[in-house]
Amino acid sequence: MSLNPKPTVMRALSSSSLKGVVSIPGDKSISHRSLILGALAIGQTRITGLLEGQDVLDTAKAMVAFGAVVEKNDQSEWLVDGVGVGGFAEPSTVVDCGNSGTGVRLIIGAMSTTPINATFTGDHSLNSRPMERVTNPLSKFGVTTFGRSKGRLPMTVIGARSPIPVKYDVPVPSAQVKSALLLAALNAPGETIITEKEITRDHTERMLSSFGADISVENISNRRSIKLCGHSELNGQNICVPSDPSSAAFPICAAIIVEGSDIFVPNITLNETRAGLYKTLIEMGANLSFENEREESGEPVADIRACFSPDLKGVEVPPERAASMIDEYPILSVVAANATGKTIMRGVKELRVKESDRIDVMAKGLRANGVFVDEGEDWWVVKGNGMGSVKGGSICQTFLDHRIAMSFLVLGLSSQNYVEIDDCLPIKTSFPNFIELMLEIGANMEVRDL
Ligand code: S3P
Repeated sequence: MSLNPKPTVMRALSSSSLKGVVSIPGDKSISHRSLILGALAIGQTRITGLLEGQDVLDTAKAMVAFGAVVEKNDQSEWLVDGVGVGGFAEPSTVVDCGNSGTGVRLIIGAMSTTPINATFTGDHSLNSRPMERVTNPLSKFGVTTFGRSKGRLPMTVIGARSPIPVKYDVPVPSAQVKSALLLAALNAPGETIITEKEITRDHTERMLSSFGADISVENISNRRSIKLCGHSELNGQNICVPSDPSSAAFPICAAIIVEGSDIFVPNITLNETRAGLYKTLIEMGANLSFENEREESGEPVADIRACFSPDLKGVEVPPERAASMIDEYPILSVVAANATGKTIMRGVKELRVKESDRIDVMAKGLRANGVFVDEGEDWWVVKGNGMGSVKGGSICQTFLDHRIAMSFLVLGLSSQNYVEIDDCLPIKTSFPNFIELMLEIGANMEVRDL
């Protein structure tokens, strides 16, 4: 994907009503973790519903490079035969994690306390992203890393030969950092304690516990403290990956802003650490309902119905909600552009170090299409003039960022003129059948043959 010579321009146009059942692919975060924990376990892990997006396929390839056996069977299940904690082999070539920050950060953590070396790289976007947030705390376990300036990839990791357990308070709200450290702790003797001030997605903790790790989680005076005792065995599991709430956000937000829409989106994980967007949409006045709430594979799950919501109002999204909807701000800004009044988003500086600087890239594209946006380092504001008020008519740059690409396509579905994106190919990193599904429910989108 990084060397893609021919970007594919795509255009979205005003659509009349989106209708139908939308089956969203598996959750990306849970998919990465299923493969990595499966590779670190003894015995076989059987995964149904794995997201077959490029990010996750790159992680599957990496697990093979570290010695696990990963195969897909005729029933579309993914089977991982793991090597056990501390059993990773040294890869014989560079490990390419493509576009995936989650993939590379979790894998670096998972291999870093094994006495092997590995070199990691990615595409232009991934190789620009900060890795010191992971490599600094890993050095406390005894890990050495050599990367480019500012700790960026490509990077060689020299796994700790005699790892020691660590106490670390994660300074940025990042599940990737927390998870990298917990995975490193698996092969360090004794008790590692990781604390976080802002509660981030907890799929690693949940899954480590179901694989049999010696892990406990406690909330102590507004901090979450996670204790993991290393050197216990993990055992292969059967995992059923629920559908991804971050991917579901795109058709759901599209239905909210396209007149006459009514869609049903089954089986979405509504883990509290991921559900911030849905709370915010309801505060804005969106017509959403949650049906058949249940638990599956240790994750809370529900079916979501989303209908056209003509009278949305701007809201203030509090900073303490940011971690639970960090990937959803781009699509929220599209909804905000169709609401009446200002939507103010605070505590969001992490958006600047995602696959792109998501505040800057969304602000540029929204402004080009006639929307008022103001921004600072840690906040941004989108001022909407009501449903259908967005002019459109411009091309937006997406900078290899799947969520930016999908957000601008959704913008075009309710704008007065088309909205174009410079490249739709990055969408396959997280939502490979996005365009197909959107066309099926009636979205007006087309590839532009230039
Ligand atoms: C993820 C955590 C988030 C999120 C990313 C997936 C994960 O990143 O943006 O898409 O699976 O742990 P940070 O934890 O760095 O905020």
